[in-house]
Amino acid sequence: MIKPDLTVNLGGIELASPVLAASGPFGYGYEYLKRIDCSALGAIIVKGVSARPWAGNPPPRLAETASGLLNSIGLQNPGLEQFEKEVMPRLKGMAPRLIVNIVGCDIGEYAEVAGRLDGMEGIDGLEVNISCPNLRAGGIAFGTDPAETFNVVSAVRRQTSLPLLVKLSPNVSDITVIARAAEEAGADGLSLINTLSGMLIDIETKKPLLGNTFGGLSGPALLPVALKMVWQTAEAVNIPLLGMGGITSAEDAIQFMMAGARAVALGTAFFYEPEVAEQVAEGLRGYLEKHEIDAIGKLEGIARKGGPADAR
Ligand code: FUM
Repeated sequence: MIKPDLTVNLGGIELASPVLAASGPFGYGYEYLKRIDCSALGAIIVKGVSARPWAGNPPPRLAETASGLLNSIGLQNPGLEQFEKEVMPRLKGMAPRLIVNIVGCDIGEYAEVAGRLDGMEGIDGLEVNISCPNLRAGGIAFGTDPAETFNVVSAVRRQTSLPLLVKLSPNVSDITVIARAAEEAGADGLSLINTLSGMLIDIETKKPLLGNTFGGLSGPALLPVALKMVWQTAEAVNIPLLGMGGITSAEDAIQFMMAGARAVALGTAFFYEPEVAEQVAEGLRGYLEKHEIDAIGKLEGIARKGGPADAR
């Protein structure tokens, strides 16, 4: 039986596995990494870090939906100084590869965070978060406008030589326009998709369920939307894609790869199945063995080859 090669290069980051932990549900990772088999994960992408501490949004911040989860955390985080002093030492030697999700209220803050993380020992790449739907300033305000996307990604690019992923929002009319702006500004890869903006109402209190009224939807309900956006974006850019949105199984992950993703990230599934990364990595290996495919990279975009997208 063949021994399939699961390694991939994601925008300059060599990964032993194409399965990553997405920024958000995995937190800063050290609680999970203590109890799971880390060899299944190619990298973890930690929760967003800003220059100074952010308090986040008022509670309630989470609500379950049918096949999904609505969140409005507001990127609560301890800021760069605490991140360096308290989080980084706890992650030492634990994370397979470490990618830091970076956020800011304005372009200056994004650039400041990127500059200070550049060269910090133990960091393998940055993910620029221009897609959080739960902020008054920053986040999605950049990720819905191609000119702003270009400006913020260029500013970050000037501050760092680390591999740079840019995390895109589905809350746009054409994700490929934003994807191209990020590529032109120097992104090495794209992460997609972040959450879909939504809300719920508590019919007893007759008020919005979340403290911030609106939130971002993640989980399995998102998968077909994310898959379509990965397919479209793969057509539009020449940099690798990290696909995410509702993945809970190897079968889901394979669909993302066949649509054009080089690697995949798991998010909400960690909340109810901490061992999901091992399951997905094992399932990918099993699929490749069964179909006698010697390398995971051979799945990338395979559903598009000879299909309607190729005919255009
Ligand atoms: O509210 C939040 O912290 C969500 C962040 C994100 O979607 O990037």
